[in-house]
Amino acid sequence: MKILVIGSGGREHALAWKLKQSPGVERIFCTPGNAGTAQIAENVAIPATDLPALARFAKENNVDLTVVGPDDPLAAGIVDLFNSEGLRVFGPSKSAARIESSKIFAKELMRAQKIPTAKASTFSDSDEALRYCEQLQFPVVIKADGLALGKGVIVAPDAATARSTINSMMNEGRFGDAGRRIVIEEFLRGSECSLHALVDGKDYRLLETARDHKRVFDGDCGPNTGGMGAFSPANNWNRQLEDQFDKKIMQPLLRGLREEGIIFRGLLYPGLMITETGAHVVEFNCRFGDPETQAILPRLRSDLLPLLEATIDGKIDNYIIEWDERVAVTVVLASGGYPGKYETGRPISGLDDAAKLKDVQVFHAGTRSANGEIVTAGGRVLAVTALGSTIEGARTRAYEAVSAIHFEGCHYRRDIALGAVSG
Ligand code: AMP
Ligand code: GLY
Repeated sequence: MKILVIGSGGREHALAWKLKQSPGVERIFCTPGNAGTAQIAENVAIPATDLPALARFAKENNVDLTVVGPDDPLAAGIVDLFNSEGLRVFGPSKSAARIESSKIFAKELMRAQKIPTAKASTFSDSDEALRYCEQLQFPVVIKADGLALGKGVIVAPDAATARSTINSMMNEGRFGDAGRRIVIEEFLRGSECSLHALVDGKDYRLLETARDHKRVFDGDCGPNTGGMGAFSPANNWNRQLEDQFDKKIMQPLLRGLREEGIIFRGLLYPGLMITETGAHVVEFNCRFGDPETQAILPRLRSDLLPLLEATIDGKIDNYIIEWDERVAVTVVLASGGYPGKYETGRPISGLDDAAKLKDVQVFHAGTRSANGEIVTAGGRVLAVTALGSTIEGARTRAYEAVSAIHFEGCHYRRDIALGAVSG
């Protein structure tokens, strides 16, 4: 089979790496890919958002299955376009992708189905939002309705921050149209957990759990990023939470989507906050997490390709997914300045030495080849995953690999999965 993976991050490198191991796969294309995917697949310079060009490429090259990595092409309707052209594709339709692309849509669905989530109000008028803030207890969380590269969520500790956030989102267009409407919600206290479910329209199968580290600096300090590291399995998850997750979150969600006439087929990634009263939905994503995928897929024993196909065909309930019992720890190496402004084009050394270490996988994210060298090309540059029979072991190995890699300005968190070791 010929596979096309759309996207250029660490998640897409991990997807291509796993699919490459499938006996059914002869050839993989990545659009646009990175220097890591170039080593295992064929990169083609089509941006992930150029939908017509992607469909043309898939047709002309007889691609059998396209796997969509990022959220933007899903929100723009790539799956509807591919289906209308008779092309097979993994991912939700545009209407199903609204679960991620509109936080207001997701909130309304959760409210209608009584899915546990933070209490929230939505606003399309900034004066109303500002007035509402006068009577709130802080902190509150302010969210742009639409997609904002993971940066559209602000925790406001006080009224002054809330006011300036509302003004910048709604009046100054900080996130463009994505921030014209906002959600203001209760701040949930607890620990986060990332769930990944292959949803085939009616049934679902959970992948192993993971936890992400969203803040840029050690000790969960500094601004939110796309994710600075992850580990799998999550240490705050258990059978009881899984039962509750099925009854109070997944079943009502699938019912709610059905009632709206929406069929979700693809990967659903609910971001959860585990509070004293159980699991609450922080957000729904309609694609694999990044960097969670880089921690989860190295633990997947089963072939990924038939699982993706069964999801598309509505047959996921026929499958049992097998896992490596070991723990995975993933450390993200970022460019100096990320998640703010950063420079690119810095040569990266030590990649081969890191990759030689046992049970280590170096996934590329923001990298490209230039004059025979691999150089930085994005904010999150690499995601280094190590497997170990204990978290300590996986951490030690991951950081050993990280310390072999160098580029100017490189920064990474030293405490990935550390909380999981102590408690
Ligand atoms: P989201 O894009 O909605 O996942 O939000 C990004 C991050 O902001 C989450 O992963 C949480 O760390 C934090 N966050 C979002 N909503 C809340 C909330 N209601 N309470 C506490 N933290 C939140
Ligand atoms: N790890 C966060 C995300 O993929 O949205």
